[in-house]
Amino acid sequence: KRRVAILISGRGSNMSALIEAASEVDFPAEIVVVISNRSDALGLEKARTSGIPTLTIESKPFGKDRAAFEAVLQTTLDQHKIDLICLAGFMRLFTAGFVQRWYGRMLNIHPSLLPSFPGLEPQAQALRAGVKISGATVHFVIPETDAGPILMQGAVAVRDDDTPETLAARILAVEHRIYPEALRLVAADQIRLDGDICKAAGGKGSDAI
Ligand code: GAR
Repeated sequence: KRRVAILISGRGSNMSALIEAASEVDFPAEIVVVISNRSDALGLEKARTSGIPTLTIESKPFGKDRAAFEAVLQTTLDQHKIDLICLAGFMRLFTAGFVQRWYGRMLNIHPSLLPSFPGLEPQAQALRAGVKISGATVHFVIPETDAGPILMQGAVAVRDDDTPETLAARILAVEHRIYPEALRLVAADQIRLDGDICKAAGGKGSDAI
């Protein structure tokens, strides 16, 4: 099985979805450790309750020295013999060097249909743009924020009376469905990269409304 580290900064609901999926005997990845860059992340307690080891590497003391934070993180990942990283609400940017080191082995989830609405508050961005469909995207991480080869997407309808919160809740349900599925495909080597495009080696690669 592929050895996975989940990186979180907060609530950890996607982390919980990944942990639950990986608890199935035939899942091709195991969650070895959950790492938070904040000691107050709510997800840490959830991970412990699920019996997953947790670690905090506080990023704040490193200030703008991203490379120094990443050096500690890399040492931790090496110690745990990690094959794949899943970012799950991890709200800290990486240097290009760290990202390149993990290219094709680091996944992220973002609550919009990328390349639309990267960055902060994507649900509010979607409402401001007046789109009628939004969703969630799982992608490989590249140095550019909320971009990179798309592994899987799921769509939801945007309603006229949606607030950022109601839209976020509808998208979150999709996130919890597609993130484990995307991890399963990557861990099982059922994805190949064709240039900057992910293609499924067999089976479906995306998910329609
Ligand atoms: C999720 O909606 C995730 O897609 C988003 O943060 C939330 C974390 O929730 N990530 C980003 O916006 C990354 N740019 P969670 O901690 O409950 O999984």
